[in-house]
Amino acid sequence: MTYRYIIFADRRFIDKAWLEIRLMLLRSGGCKMVPIPECEVALAFETPLEPARLFPLFEEKQLKYVDAIMPIRDWIANYKIDMSDIEASLAGIAERGKSFKIEVRRIDTDVGLSAKTIEVQLGRKLEAGGFTADLKSPQMRILVALIWNNAIIAADEPRYYNTNIDKFRLFNPVAKESVSRAEFKLIEALEYFRIDPKGMARCIDLGAAPGGWSAVMMRNGSRVVAIDNAALDYEKLSKLGKVEITDAAINAPERWDLLHVKTNVRDLDPAKLDRFGPFDAILVDMNIESDKCAMFVDRFTQLLRAGGVLILTIKLVDERIETHIDKAQGLLTPYFENFKVKKLPHNRMELTMYATKRHG
Ligand SMILES: C[S@@+](CC[C@H](N)C(=O)[O-])C[C@H]1O[C@@H](n2cnc3c(N)ncnc32)[C@H](O)[C@@H]1O
Repeated sequence: MTYRYIIFADRRFIDKAWLEIRLMLLRSGGCKMVPIPECEVALAFETPLEPARLFPLFEEKQLKYVDAIMPIRDWIANYKIDMSDIEASLAGIAERGKSFKIEVRRIDTDVGLSAKTIEVQLGRKLEAGGFTADLKSPQMRILVALIWNNAIIAADEPRYYNTNIDKFRLFNPVAKESVSRAEFKLIEALEYFRIDPKGMARCIDLGAAPGGWSAVMMRNGSRVVAIDNAALDYEKLSKLGKVEITDAAINAPERWDLLHVKTNVRDLDPAKLDRFGPFDAILVDMNIESDKCAMFVDRFTQLLRAGGVLILTIKLVDERIETHIDKAQGLLTPYFENFKVKKLPHNRMELTMYATKRHG
């Protein structure tokens, strides 16, 4: 008996994702790729491992490059443009007494409708057949991936949900109140690394402009020191709390929710922030090479409490991915531990690193 799965990854890292899957399954029966023609962001494979055994393994291994994995339930080649064959397939997959949510991913298709429109069409058909939709907490999630003329249909239960497929809609409109698209990266990092932002009452945000990450933390009730020589979006951030702006001299009043230190990180003496600490987190999303980033972090580490969290974007300025990770980790190891690295759905040519400050 074999099971088929579909995985999603960024097209720049799909080869690495496949290698991760092969290594993960090496001692569990192996796997064989099932080619999806001309697809750079998803691949399918077969393995003897059933979902109840594969998903715990997937959780445990914490793969860097695989965004999501789902069991394939049907694969329709040359699906009909009116989607009647997909509708029929879904009726066979949906289960009575279990609420469902359909998520459509249009990867390459000549169907002119948007993913949302297709979801509504397919969802209504299932509802008309007596199944119950629940968009908030479904008991069954059904994915329809339209890849050229293939419709790959996957389904899983909430206990196996590893990543919300919705996040793959990278064309997600940024909410009106959002400051930047970069916010998604931090939201995903908090979720993926299982960090409770409520435990991060005081944060430093290095390379903060225009302020998306600071906004995420403010919404979670944190007090943020944001450092960047560029301006932040003060209008939006002011709606989240009291914003003060200062320079490297830090002549700031005591009361603020966001303190923007408008300077190059290089020119700020970290000791000047002593009176606002100790901090629970250092967040770094600077658009510079990872070793330079790590050197900046190194200077601010004294402000972080033991066990405090570091979230750092590792820019992949060239193909030497492991070198960029190693360089940052090597520089940070004297003060940090519990390193994890993940290519999050909203990372582009970058990865996100997590670590915590050593005790003692
Ligand atoms: C990708 S943006 C950060 C986006 C931000 N996290 C958000 O959510 O809106 C990178 C920022 O790093 C800042 N940066 C890079 N090098 C810096 C330095 N040496 N000092 C201060 N800011 C720096 C840039 O000015 C830029 O605003």
